[in-house]
Amino acid sequence: MSAEPMIDVRRINVTFSVSRGFMAGRKPLRAVQEVDLVAHAGETLAIVGESGSGKTTLANAILNIHPPTSGEIFLDGRAVRSLGRKEFARQVQPVFQDPYSSLNPRRSVGATIMQPLIVHGIGDHVEREQKLLRILDLVGLPRRVVNALPHQLSGGQRQRVAIARALIIAPKLLVCDEPTSALDVSVQAQILNLLQDLRTELGLTYILITHNLAVVEHIASRVAVMYLGRIVEEASVEDLFRAPKHPYTIALLESALTPDPTLGLPDLGLSNVFPNPIDPPSGCHFHPRCNRTFAPCSRVAPRSIVSDGHRLECHLYDPDIMSAHNAHSGDL
Ligand SMILES: Nc1ncnc2c1ncn2[C@@H]1O[C@H](COP(=O)(O)OP(=O)(O)O)[C@@H](O)[C@H]1O
Ligand SMILES: [Mg+2]
Repeated sequence: MSAEPMIDVRRINVTFSVSRGFMAGRKPLRAVQEVDLVAHAGETLAIVGESGSGKTTLANAILNIHPPTSGEIFLDGRAVRSLGRKEFARQVQPVFQDPYSSLNPRRSVGATIMQPLIVHGIGDHVEREQKLLRILDLVGLPRRVVNALPHQLSGGQRQRVAIARALIIAPKLLVCDEPTSALDVSVQAQILNLLQDLRTELGLTYILITHNLAVVEHIASRVAVMYLGRIVEEASVEDLFRAPKHPYTIALLESALTPDPTLGLPDLGLSNVFPNPIDPPSGCHFHPRCNRTFAPCSRVAPRSIVSDGHRLECHLYDPDIMSAHNAHSGDL
């Protein structure tokens, strides 16, 4: 393992300015707030959370598609801001949710997959063809599809094309944003298994974004739980599944036990609806939906508590908050 993490995200924020309607002015929407994340070479870091929690915004910041408003990201020890676009793309590639819209409908499979080789000026014609055939084998696509157009393929095949295109230039890091949620349930496992095999075979590092915790348990090594722009808990997969701490993570895990793949969102059994990120709740963002909320939760934003590589933002685990609270309760 290299001394430097493959990707090191340091206190990044991504803020959008959104209109509140005609003549109502604009307001900041803090889609990603003070996010710290690290993934080491060969690791799969999963990011989970409900729709609207900021996962795609975080992925786009890491992918340099929409760079952070503040904070810094380092790739293998180098600030991403200082890297050229091409140099960055050579090392970090995306796999998006929807292979329908991420592929050019008029470009053949072969041309699509070889495109990055041309963009980056890698190899001559013969070498490119060799790389194409090798990557087709690797992602499990038959050679006869090279002349096909995207609409002639199944959803799973299309996602294999997108994966092949991402991998043909041998990047180090793959950022996968819900890579299977647009696919039929029957092919989701195949694509996840493929990603898993490719990671081991090619020594890749993954950031895997999903709203499905059940997926995480099978392929990730670490997991970060996102809620309204913040990472509320982060731990190794073993730790998080064995001993989840944050009430939100516990609710997410309970919902994952009875997954209904026809639902876009997990049914959390939580009392309130997902809050509006333009007007996030005071104190801990989760407090209006939390079943363990107490006095400080609506008043004070929880700080980050770290122990044994398990990080979380919840007052219940903050010894200072708890002793102050207990002392105060004792007075009554
Ligand atoms: N380009 C944008 N302009 C304004 N608001 C945005 C933009 N992209 C995302 N958002 C808002 O940021 C929040 C997080 O969105 P997103 O990152 O897509 O979440 P997720 O991927 O977890 O569903 C949402 O409230 C969304 O409406
Ligand atoms: Mg998303």
